[in-house]
This record gives sequence, structure tokens and C-alpha cells, in this order.
Amino acid sequence: MKIIACYSNKGGVGKTATSVNLAYAFAAAGKRTLLCDLDPQGASGFYFRVKPSKKLTEAAFFKDVERLTKAIRGSDYSNLDILPANLGFREFDVFLSRMRNSRSRLKKALKAIRADYDVILLDCPPNISVLSENVFRTADAIVVPVIPTTLSERTFEQLVDFFLAHDLPVKKLHGFFSMVQGVKALHGATIAEMQSRYPKRFMKTQIPFASDIERMGVLRAPVMVTAPTSAASKAYEALYLETAQRVEGE
Ligand SMILES: Nc1ncnc2c1ncn2[C@@H]1O[C@H](COP(=O)(O)OP(=O)(O)OP(=O)(O)O)[C@@H](O)[C@H]1O
Ligand SMILES: [Mg+2]
Repeated sequence: MKIIACYSNKGGVGKTATSVNLAYAFAAAGKRTLLCDLDPQGASGFYFRVKPSKKLTEAAFFKDVERLTKAIRGSDYSNLDILPANLGFREFDVFLSRMRNSRSRLKKALKAIRADYDVILLDCPPNISVLSENVFRTADAIVVPVIPTTLSERTFEQLVDFFLAHDLPVKKLHGFFSMVQGVKALHGATIAEMQSRYPKRFMKTQIPFASDIERMGVLRAPVMVTAPTSAASKAYEALYLETAQRVEGE
């Protein structure tokens, strides 16, 4: 069983789009997959047309296995379950920071359900918080979308520095370039610079900037379903293969 987080401390970089398509790809490959949405915005659940349980409070998420299990929904796709987020998840940080062993609580909560799945994907909210530290400790791999611009580059550096400062394994970090626009010279220059600075930390696959991906919000399904032959779908398929290979190679 592997836990894969889609995480960035920066917002709007493609974490949810990646979580949704990777979850779909793992399930389509026959892996029993759970997409667990940790972001109170609840976008992952929205894309899969599932409604969250209002009864899954922050206390229940971390302490009540039965409630947690009951909040898991099936999806339209075989092998794929969703644990949708509700707005109450915004309290996770306050709640966790008051608990003993506050940085290993997510691992403990997922222990109860991990036997039912081959892969659990975590769609994370954009910040570095107690919840993120839980994610860093729980996940076997952390997939980090990076838009090839100066600010995103800086965000990735901050993440690597955070890992080093807190004795977390940097090798868990698997960056990839997201929303890449081939025509932009700055994108090309940033990609080359980041790849040479972190040769092992970046996957080869790049996800292009694509209107097919934006349309996921209207069609409410993975782009791998709505536009399977598109460049965007092929890129997510490649990202899935590379991620699976990196996770299994551990
Ligand atoms: N490769 C892409 N090309 C074009 N648009 C994209 C791409 N990836 C994501 N988007 C769009 O950009 C917006 C942000 O993407 P997404 O929600 O996946 O980011 P996020 O990192 O999860 O954001 P948040 O930090 O708010 O959770 C969405 O409207 C999405 O449809
Ligand atoms: Mg998101």
C-alpha cells in the first residue's frame, strides 16, 4: 500500500487536477484506489460528483474510524473511491496542534483504512501547516506541481529547505512542471535551471497548459475520461507511469 500526496505550498498550481487524474489512472490500471481530499474547498469531490459527509468533523476524521469509513464514497469508476472534504476540514490545523503526537495523526487515521486499498492519494491544501507536516510524514511520495516561473521555483526551494531543516527525507519529493507553455521563453529557461539544480527531484513528464484541463470544472470528470486522446491526457498517463515507477522503486 502506498500513500501519494499531491502537495505544494503554493495555491492554484494543479494539485487537484493532478490528484483527480492520477487517482483515475491508478484505478484504471487495476489498483484499489482512494482519493482522500484534505482541502476544505472540496474540489476533488466536486470533480467526481460526490457529496461530503457533514458528520465527518475534524474530531471524527482523526478519532472515529467508523465515521471516517462511512464518509468514503464510491465513484463512477471501478476501483476508485473518494473521501470528499467538507468545510469543517478547515479546522484540521487547530485541532491537530492541540493533540499529542500532532504530527503523526494522519498516519494513524489512515492506518484503519489502508488495508482496503493499494494506493491512497491525498489532495492537499496550499500551505505549510501542522496538517502538511502530517502529510510529509505519512506519504511515501509527494508529487509537487511546479509552474515554471520564478515564484513557483522559490516555493519549491522553500519546500526542500523545510525538509532539510526538519530532518525529513528530501527523496520523497517528486516535482514536475505543470501548466507548461512551450512558447514562453521564461518557462523553458526556468525548467532547464531547476532540472540542473535538482537533477533527481524532477520527473521528466511535463503537464502542458491545456484548456481541456480547465474544462474539467464544467464536465466534472478527469480529462483522461473526457478527452482521452488529448495531449493533456497523454501527459497525465505519462505522469502516472513515472509516479508509479518512482513509488514502486522505493
Ligand atoms: N495544466 C493545466 N492547464 C490549464 N489549466 C489548468 C491546468 N492545471 C490546472 N488548471 C486549472 O487551474 C486552476 C487551478 O488548478 P487546480 O485546482 O488543480 O490547482 P490547485 O493547486 O489544486 O489549487 P488550490 O491551491 O486552490 O487547491 C483550475 O481552474 C484548473 O482547472
Ligand atoms: Mg486544489
